[in-house]
Amino acid sequence: MSELCKRFVDKHVIITGAGSGIGEGIARRFASEGARVTVADIDKEGGEHVASELKGTGAEAHYLPVDVTSEESSKELVAKAVEAFGPLHVAVSNAGISETESSALEISSEQWDKVFAVNTRGSFMFSRVCANNMMENEIKGSIIITSSIMGRSSKSMTGAYAASKSAAIMFTKTLAKAVAPMGIRVNSLAPGMVKTNLYRSVESEMMMEKDSFVPWIIEQCIESGQILIPRIGTPEDMAGAVSFLASDDASYITAQVLCVDGGLDWCW
Ligand SMILES: NC(=O)c1ccc[n+]([C@@H]2O[C@H](COP(=O)([O-])OP(=O)(O)OC[C@H]3O[C@@H](n4cnc5c(N)ncnc54)[C@H](O)[C@@H]3O)[C@@H](O)[C@H]2O)c1
Repeated sequence: MSELCKRFVDKHVIITGAGSGIGEGIARRFASEGARVTVADIDKEGGEHVASELKGTGAEAHYLPVDVTSEESSKELVAKAVEAFGPLHVAVSNAGISETESSALEISSEQWDKVFAVNTRGSFMFSRVCANNMMENEIKGSIIITSSIMGRSSKSMTGAYAASKSAAIMFTKTLAKAVAPMGIRVNSLAPGMVKTNLYRSVESEMMMEKDSFVPWIIEQCIESGQILIPRIGTPEDMAGAVSFLASDDASYITAQVLCVDGGLDWCW
């Protein structure tokens, strides 16, 4: 990252699900651009590892635990983060899970509730706690909610996951409307296929070998011409889009969904 690109010096950024995958990539990007970074995750080991690596690069970073399915936990997280690093400027609601059952005909109510508890209710509560903190401190901040292209496509077979992400997109828009008078912007990142641990559960459900799903699906998409940029996405691709949405370059953008998917035709 060029020294010229330090858009978040003196800004406090909090990211849920930052202990691995896309969230980790987002945390690294903000740290490299000078932000004070709160790495929040239910996974202590992953979160502490990422925070300690960021500190090793000279960044101001720390790990705090959170279970986004609990509103109390999100409130505690934000209170502790603000106490340590000051008021929030950017919040990234990124923690998410996929499901192990697939079609809408098969999914159990327990699985539905589990997916919605993290991806929709968790995202909603964490984002609202952050919005309230920004309002209390009169900060014209930015909130980014990680949804998915699956939340925009009826082609998806993952019934609860797709519905949970669709709800997260709509919540992005209603929250954006509610906080616009206070100068806070809310947008959503909709990733396409990104190589992360999220695919582990899909692999076990499909009885595929570890690390075999992503190459398989990307090959299918390339062969059938369904993807315009013929490769899998990376956490860095996602982090570039999120840091743009959080920056002043996006000061006239709110209530939008940015698909970062290499032109996958699942959501056109
Ligand atoms: N990987 C993809 O292809 C893809 C595509 C579209 C959307 N997404 C979304 O991107 C986000 C990040 O996923 P990823 O691919 O990096 O997967 P990941 O599994 O690597 O990361 C998810 C993180 O969320 C954390 N988490 C899970 N439940 C939590 C909880 N209750 N409270 C706090 N943290 C919790 C996990 O510990 C993990 O560190 C998710 O919202 C996911 O739905 C991913």
